[in-house]
Amino acid sequence: MSALLMLCAVLLLLGTPSRGARPWEPCTDLRPLDILAEVVPLNGATSGIRMVQVEGVRGLQFSATEPRTTSFPASRIFSSCDFFPEEFSIIVTLRVPNLPPKKNEYLLSLLAEERDTLLLGLRYSPTQLHFLFLSEDLAGAWQTRVSFWSPGLMDSRWHTLILAVSQGSFSLTTDCGLPVDIMADVSFPPTLSVRGARFFIGSRKRTKGLFTGVIRQLVLLPGSDATPQLCPSRNARLAELSIPQVLKRLTGKPDDNEVLNYPYEADMKVTLGSRPPCTKAEGAQFWFDAAQKGLYLCAGSEWVSVLAAKTKLDYVEEHQSLHTNSETLGIEVFSIPGVGLFAAAANRKARSAIYKWTDGKFVSYQNIATHQAQSWRHFTIGKKIFLAVANFGPNERGQEFSVIYKWSPRKLKFTLYQRIATHSARDWEAFEVDGEHFLVVANHREGDNHNIDSMVYRWNPSSQLFEANQSIATSGAYDWEFFTVGPYSFLVVANTFNGTSTQVHSHLYIWLVGAFQLFQSFLTFGAADWEVFHIGERIFLAVANSHSYDVQMQAQNDSYVLSSVIYELNITAQTFVKFQDIPTCSALDWEFFSVGEDHFLVVANSFDGNTFSVNSIIYRWQGYEGFVAVHKLPTFGCRDWEAFNTTAGSYLIYSSAKEPLSRVLKLRTG
Ligand SMILES: *[C@@H]1O[C@H](CO)[C@@H](O)[C@H](O)[C@H]1NC(C)=O
Ligand SMILES: *[C@@H]1O[C@H](CO)[C@@H](O)[C@H](O)[C@H]1NC(C)=O
Ligand SMILES: *[C@@H]1O[C@H](CO)[C@@H](O)[C@H](O)[C@H]1NC(C)=O
Ligand SMILES: *[C@@H]1O[C@H](CO)[C@@H](O)[C@H](O)[C@H]1NC(C)=O
Ligand SMILES: *[C@@H]1O[C@H](CO)[C@@H](O)[C@H](O)[C@H]1NC(C)=O
Repeated sequence: MSALLMLCAVLLLLGTPSRGARPWEPCTDLRPLDILAEVVPLNGATSGIRMVQVEGVRGLQFSATEPRTTSFPASRIFSSCDFFPEEFSIIVTLRVPNLPPKKNEYLLSLLAEERDTLLLGLRYSPTQLHFLFLSEDLAGAWQTRVSFWSPGLMDSRWHTLILAVSQGSFSLTTDCGLPVDIMADVSFPPTLSVRGARFFIGSRKRTKGLFTGVIRQLVLLPGSDATPQLCPSRNARLAELSIPQVLKRLTGKPDDNEVLNYPYEADMKVTLGSRPPCTKAEGAQFWFDAAQKGLYLCAGSEWVSVLAAKTKLDYVEEHQSLHTNSETLGIEVFSIPGVGLFAAAANRKARSAIYKWTDGKFVSYQNIATHQAQSWRHFTIGKKIFLAVANFGPNERGQEFSVIYKWSPRKLKFTLYQRIATHSARDWEAFEVDGEHFLVVANHREGDNHNIDSMVYRWNPSSQLFEANQSIATSGAYDWEFFTVGPYSFLVVANTFNGTSTQVHSHLYIWLVGAFQLFQSFLTFGAADWEVFHIGERIFLAVANSHSYDVQMQAQNDSYVLSSVIYELNITAQTFVKFQDIPTCSALDWEFFSVGEDHFLVVANSFDGNTFSVNSIIYRWQGYEGFVAVHKLPTFGCRDWEAFNTTAGSYLIYSSAKEPLSRVLKLRTG
């Protein structure tokens, strides 16, 4: 009681900006709020909910038919105002089966339905319990995820979890054991508005990710940590704060021996400092690695990670505004061993610039004359280092060619190596097949004709030059991407326009007996980029669709806001199948990157039909949910994204096709 009063006093003193000068008052009752009881009718009978009894203990199971039947408006418990408490705990008693890998299930979600935004969520995967919440600041809205390593949860036995949240401190207590604390550098927001929001129990509104286990207790305790109220408990796995009336009767008697045998962790030893030895004598002891924030258990003779010391992406911060010679259509980041990290910018006007990473910033290093340069490609052949530029425009004498430059280790500059005749070149791709080196150019158009050949060139080791090897018919080719799957080599082209329509097929080719042959075609809409990436064993191909336009149907169908598509390779069927549609605004580029064990895609959104000021979006891989938007970045005519690492951390750089300004962003990891 007195602790609660003190808390109220503290909240009173701090106040919160958006609640104005009004005295602080809690938005809800400060007693335990039985969220589960809100969705259970008193007689226990409703479609979508079933009562089951396991180990002599009653719980509820939800069915996939209608997540809405297990939801209720937040206003039902937020009776006096609309703010989620800044400090609270959530108490859950549940019994969950083993989940297949990659599967995730929601225990609870709070959704702002109009915006379809997850305000708060609790979900678990085979090894982790994730607490998600929305934080908003001037830079945009963020979904933050705090993850607890909890592989012991999925053993088909009852467990009681207490998640206590207070600003940046997140603490999880399992079965009244030792709490695991995570200090995050993103705090739970002091003013999370729940106006118009809805609680969903056992789902996040969709049938996908529906909770398949049994739930007995789900309580929100505003204002305080429930642990002292529940623990220690004689029956820690079923410690109870509040459960719905219908679940109250325990028919079977819990096995007393089981309770007594439960390993209380009271005499658990945690060692700090550098890695201590782990032998039989240290068995079952813990070591906390303070530097990496990892908690390890000595099991047998090895330290086993309990609370994983992993890096995760928290947010991005602006690192450098890079003022460029002119608008930048493409950026290529590469390193030269022993020299450093470079970024080549393809600039629209007469000169393109190469920057070198110096004292944590890109600094101008070399300028090269180019003609409406569209992109650069870095590649190596043996010890030789090359950089090829795709020139879109002709030179002063009306000649059209693109140029390969070679790094001179003596001059420490790139020098002209070979000119190749091209037609409004958009992109170069470099690759190796069976030990031979190739380049392929995307010829966009010749005069007004977009239906022309693009060309594959082979490196001739005797002449030490690239020579034409295969021509491939393309329609307004914009981008080539090479990748391999096992022993097979693939090349995919983004075809933009065939003279009358942007709704054309982009083609994927496979290398068979010395040449590329058609493997699969995809209907694309002004395709500007293909990005290939792997997540574990899975292989994905994402296309950036920039424009839907057709001369014949101009009026009905001239749109920049359309879906870009992610395909996944089905190895059995030997074909890429649609995996996910993502709405984009004239998407020009996809970039895939990883931070720790998390995977992300960022899209260059460039135009919505009216303005070039559109947000580019970072998506996070969330397993069965696919890619989920986690961050918006205001961009202007965004054209190209690149991810790179230095010893100081991970970065993204993006260019603008509409202003002479590129930006370097640093990925904040925790
Ligand atoms: C371009 O594509 C459209 C739609 O696919 C098709 O109707 C039209 O005939 C094509 N035009 C040419 C010149 O291939
Ligand atoms: C292209 O290169 C491959 C690999 O060296 C070779 O087998 C093939 O004959 C070449 N084709 C042409 C037309 O030069
Ligand atoms: C208009 O474009 C969309 C793709 O953005 C496509 O799905 C639809 O079929 C097109 N409609 C017509 C009439 O071509
Ligand atoms: C892959 O294709 C095979 C054969 O068409 C099909 O049976 C299987 O369900 C597909 N796998 C996935 C994951 O879609
Ligand atoms: C950067 O480093 C991370 C490891 O933290 C790695 O997963 C990622 O692939 C690297 N990215 C690039 C672009 O090299």
